[in-house]
Parts: sequence; structure tokens; C-alpha cells
Amino acid sequence: LTISGTYFTATDPNNVQSVKDALIMIDQTGVIQRILQPSDQEYAAQLQSARQADRLLELDSDQYIIPGFIDLHVHAPQWPQAGLALDRPLADWLNHYTFPLEVKFSDPAYAQRVYHDFVHTLLANGTTAAMMFGTIHFDANMTLAKEVVSQGLRGFIGQVVMDNPDQTPDYYRNSSAKAALQSTENFIQAVLKMQSRTGQTITPVITPRFVPSCTDEALVGLGQLARRYNLPVQSHLSESNWEHGYAIERFGQHDTTVMDHFGLLTDRAVMAHGTQLTPGDWQVLRERRTAIAHCPISNIYFGNGILPVNRLLKLGNKLGLGSDISGGYTPSLYHNARQAVKSSQQLTDGVDNHLLAEQRGVQGSRITMANAFYLATRGGAQALHLKAGVIQEGYTADLQIVRMHRALMPLTTADIFQRLMYQTEQADICHVFVGGREVYKA
Ligand code: GUN
Ligand code: FE
Repeated sequence: LTISGTYFTATDPNNVQSVKDALIMIDQTGVIQRILQPSDQEYAAQLQSARQADRLLELDSDQYIIPGFIDLHVHAPQWPQAGLALDRPLADWLNHYTFPLEVKFSDPAYAQRVYHDFVHTLLANGTTAAMMFGTIHFDANMTLAKEVVSQGLRGFIGQVVMDNPDQTPDYYRNSSAKAALQSTENFIQAVLKMQSRTGQTITPVITPRFVPSCTDEALVGLGQLARRYNLPVQSHLSESNWEHGYAIERFGQHDTTVMDHFGLLTDRAVMAHGTQLTPGDWQVLRERRTAIAHCPISNIYFGNGILPVNRLLKLGNKLGLGSDISGGYTPSLYHNARQAVKSSQQLTDGVDNHLLAEQRGVQGSRITMANAFYLATRGGAQALHLKAGVIQEGYTADLQIVRMHRALMPLTTADIFQRLMYQTEQADICHVFVGGREVYKA
């Protein structure tokens, strides 16, 4: 496949490069093999031969190519309740809405119906890779894995562990730490087998739900599994005042220290939210090369604060963007990128993270849409060790093609980038490719 059109890609956390009327040549293995520009000698000949061989996708003048987005934190089973009960605090929302929904995934037929729709919806929104929480149910998680493979998403899937009787309801809990660890290991092996059979990026993820929901025994065992199988880890970290305070009460330490103690902060770990982390916690995360999944929409509801993205990027912390369905109400990373920019203008001094309107736009807190775009693409790919998120030779062709809303005044390419990021809705997404394979078409 060869695609001709104008593309945008992040070169670093602050800069977006645009290339006009490029020819993106994708090889049999789904990797971007060459990118030619109109000034290149071979351009005309390659354009011609791709056209003749009927393997050219020639974009309209109002269509643009950008990397597929990477959703670094999303709960697949919560898709049916996206948008519900967001006026409740986190613990209340979990106990009265989320756990009663997740327990329904003991029914494989229900899992099939939801997961089919969910995976399709991610792709239709331009998301080409996602790090996902499933539920505690082995069969339902395998159903999610099969949907990911058949629809072509790059899926990182976690079987959730939650075995602490103090912080989980009787009807939705692993029967014991031992049983949870055994079932997790079964899931790991089944997914690894599926990965070697299909050759697709489908990866099992070690998934302690968060510190409150796990016993020490479960956390010890999950740390060991992460090391033994060299697998990614995902969890929630210092998401809210309540959660942050819980770890201090139980362990006398921040949950960053607790997670680190159990070997769960690795360079393949992704910790969601982190609004209550302190500069000392940030440093631990940097030293372990653990990424933070910034979930800006969800954080408005549950976070009791705003992640200081600008500061963290400057310090060199690894960061990506997450929808946190259904703590966030939309699967669209466009909407999350917009909220990331908006939230950054509401940040205070970064010490106690209280949202104070009078301190709006505090010095140095603002991020640009280029920063948010980096999080959704290159930052997420780095966190997941994917050679994706960038339009460049040697990177995998995970791409989305979007149509810009009508231009009613002259626009520079920099303007076009802003317009795309601020105005694209699901209906504007025309094609989505993962590894050069078309996985969604409007
Ligand atoms: N903390 C523990 N579980 C969850 C969850 O499902 N969503 C969010 N946002 N936070 C959590
Ligand atoms: Fe979450």
C-alpha cells in the first residue's frame, strides 16, 4: 500500500512536523518503508507505479494523515456505562456502578456483545493501540483478546486482580490471592500462545486494580509474574485524595513506594492518573522509567487535582494519554487531548494541586496542542515499547486519515494541525490502518 497526502507527526514532546503531499510507501510487513516528497527524484515514478498497480490511496485535498492514537488506559468492560454517574466520588462510583457492571462479565455472551462493539469503537475513533483493563474473569478476557485479534487493534490486555475483602464487594472479588495468581498465569500463557499463533501485537498485562483492592500476597505474586514473564504492568496510582490517603494509612507510605516495593514499577509499567503524586514520587517513576497515563477527562471527575504535565515533560517523566473509559465519558483521544490543554490552564502551583480559579494560567503550567498530540502518539508508543506513533521510515504503519472541517479562511499547515485536533469528531475519521491493514473505513 502507498498513501499520498499531507501528514503530521510529533518529532519530540514540543514539536509537530508537517510534510506536504508525501508518498508513504508501506511494505508487506506493514512497516513504513519509504517516505518520498514531491521534490524527490523518484516521486513521480513511484506515484505512477503505485497508481497503476492499484495500490495507491490518494487523499482528497481536505484529508490528512496522522499516526493512530494510543490509549494508554481504558477499561473495556466499562464501555456500557460511559457517561454515567460521573457526579459521584470515586469510591461511591466503583461500589455502586462499576463493580455491579463488571461482575456481569461472568457471562461470556454479554462479554462478546460488549467487547465486539468496544473494539470497533476504539478503531472508529482513530485509536490503533490500547492498554486495557478487562475484568477478573478469564473467559471474558479471552473474548476480549479474540476481538482484538479479529478486528486488528494492537491490544494490551490485563486480567484484573482484586482480592482484598476490605475494599471489594463479596459478589466481585477473587476468591483468594492464590486463585487470582493462578488464573492470571493461565491468562498470560493463553494470550502468549495466541500471540505466537497470530503474530499480532496482543500482550498480556499484569493488572493489580490498585493498591486498595489487593492483598500483600497478591501484590508480591504479581510482581514476581511481571519479572518472570517480562510483561507490562498497569494499575492506578495516586488517583484521588481518598486513594492516595488509603496507602498512607495501610502502609505508612505513598502508593508509589508500595508499588515499587512489590516490584511493580518497571520500564514496561503504566500507572494511570497520578494527580496526587509528589515530586519525590515523580523521581521514583523516572528512575524506574515507569510511564504515567494522563487521563484528563476522568481526572476532572475523580482526580481531586490536575496532573502537571508541563513540569513532568520537562523533568523527563514518561507520559501518554488515556481515555479511562468510563471514568472518562468518551473513547476519543481527540477529546482527551483538548481536555489536557484546557486542564493545564487551570493548574495551580503544583504543590497541593487544588483547583483554584484565581490562579488560572499559573506561570509555566500551560501545555500546547502539540504536547497533547505527543502524549497521544509518540509518548504512548514509548510507554508500550511500540515502534509506532510516528510517521517515519522503519515505523509500523498505524495511521488514521481524517477530513478537516471546511476552511473558510486561508490556513497555514500549523493552523490545519490545530483545526484537526480541535474539531475532528468520529464521523470525520475516514480510514484507520494498523500495521498497514485497513481496520476501519467510514
Ligand atoms: N480505581 C480502581 N478502579 C478504578 C476504575 O475502574 N476506574 C478508575 N478511574 N479508578 C479506579
Ligand atoms: Fe482507570
